[in-house]
Amino acid sequence: MTFFWSSWITILSIMCWAAILGVLLMVLKYKPELEDDGTTGHAYDGIKEYDKPLPKWWLVIFFGSIAWGVAYWVFFPGIFPSKWEGIATVEVDGETVPWTSKNELYSELESNNKVFTDNFEKNILAKADASGATETLAALAELQATMRRSETPPSDLQAQIDEKTAELSPYVEKLSENPNALKVGSRLFLQNCAVCHGSNAKGAVGYPNLTDNDWLYGGEASNILTTLHKGRVGGMAAWRDQIGEDGVRAVSEYVLSISGNQPGYELDKAQVAQGEAIFNEPTNCVLCHGADAKGMTSTGAPNLTDNIWLYGGDRETIRETLRYGRAGVMPEWETKLGNERIMLLAAYVYSLSDKTPQSAAKAPTATQVETTAN
Ligand code: HEC
Ligand code: HEC
Repeated sequence: MTFFWSSWITILSIMCWAAILGVLLMVLKYKPELEDDGTTGHAYDGIKEYDKPLPKWWLVIFFGSIAWGVAYWVFFPGIFPSKWEGIATVEVDGETVPWTSKNELYSELESNNKVFTDNFEKNILAKADASGATETLAALAELQATMRRSETPPSDLQAQIDEKTAELSPYVEKLSENPNALKVGSRLFLQNCAVCHGSNAKGAVGYPNLTDNDWLYGGEASNILTTLHKGRVGGMAAWRDQIGEDGVRAVSEYVLSISGNQPGYELDKAQVAQGEAIFNEPTNCVLCHGADAKGMTSTGAPNLTDNIWLYGGDRETIRETLRYGRAGVMPEWETKLGNERIMLLAAYVYSLSDKTPQSAAKAPTATQVETTAN
C-alpha cells in the first residue's frame, strides 16, 4: 500500500475513533441544571424531559466497542498498514505468516482442501487399490511448496516436480477403473472443463474432443496429467506474410489432398504439387506436423491426415488457419485444483478416451496404418 493511502486510512480511522470517544465523554460529563421536580424544564407537546443516567449495559457496549477498535488496530494491519502488520497470524503451507486477507483465504482453502484430501486418501485411493499414490502426492506437495516459497528456485526443481507428477500415472490408470473415482471425476469435469470441452467431452471448434483416440499432446495417463498440471498453448503461426496468399492457397490445397476430406472437392493439381513442396521445406510445416503430416505430440501439432479437425477441414477454414494462425489455450489447473483433483480428472478423461491401438502412438510414423475418420 502506498504511503498516501496508508496515511489516509490512518487519519480517518483515528479521527473517527477520537470523535466518538469525545462525544461520549462530553455527554457523560454534561450536567444540566434541574428544576425542583427533577426535570430539565424542557417540555414539548406536554412531554417533560428528565435527566436520567445512560443505561449501564449501553455504556458497557459503547466503551467495549471503543476498546475493541484499539485491539483491532493492534491485531490487524489497520493503523498505518504500510508499516504495521498487526500481531495476528495465520498458518499457510505449514508456516506462520502475518494476517492479510489473502493469507487468510489461503489458510482457509488449505484447511478445506485437507478435508477433501483426507477423504480422497481414505475413500478413493484406498478403495481403488492405489494407496501407493499417497507418498508420491506428499512428496509432490512438498516440492511444489518449495517452488512457491523460493524466489529463485533451484534449476532442477521443476524437473523433480515433473518426475513426481509422472509417477502418479499408474495410479491414475487404477482410478480410471474405479466407479467411485469416476463419479467424482465427472462432477469435477462438469464444473471445470465442460464450458470448453462440452459436457460430453466431445469438444467443439477449437476445443479438442477428449473421447476419441486422436491426441494433440498424447493420450497416455502421463500425457494427460502433464496437460492438466501445466496447461498447453497450441502454437500455429500465421503464414501469409511468409508464403504469401498464393502459398497459403497452394499449401491448403495440399493439406486438403492428404486430409481424407478431399472427396468433396475438385483439387487443383498444380497447387497441390506447389503446396507439397512448401509443406516439406525443412523449416516449414514438417517441422511440427511431421514428414507424414500425422502430427507430433511434442509440438501439439495435429494429425492432418485423419479428417478429424480442431478448427475445420473445409477449404476456406484451412486457408483461414494458415493465413492467421491458431493458438488454442488449455489453462493450467495445478494452482486452481491441486494434485488430487487433477488425478481424478485425468482418470475420468483417460476412462472416456478411445484406447484402440492408434491412441498409444506417441509420434505416429509413416508405417502406421491410416486411421479411419470417426
Ligand atoms: C478455457 C477453455 C478450456 C477449459 C476450461 C479446459 N480446456 Fe482442456 N483444452 C482447451 C483447448 C483450447 C485445448 C487444446 C489446446 C491446443 O489447441 O493446443 C485443450 C486441450 C486439452 C487436452 C489435451 C487434448 C489432446 O488432444 O491432447 C486435455 C486432456 C484437456 N484439454 C482436458 C481438460 C480438462 C480435464 C479440463 C478441466 C479441468 C479442461 N481441459 C478445461 C481448452 C480448455
Ligand atoms: C511451430 C509448429 C508448427 C508449424 C511450423 C506449423 N504448424 Fe500447423 N499447427 C501447429 C499446431 C500446434 C496446431 C494446433 C493449433 C492449436 O491447437 O490451436 C496446428 C494446426 C494446424 C491446422 C489446423 C488443423 C485442424 O485440425 O483444424 C492446419 C490445417 C495446419 N496446422 C497446417 C499447417 C501447415 C500447412 C503448415 C505449414 C505452412 C503448418 N501447419 C505449420 C503447429 C505448427
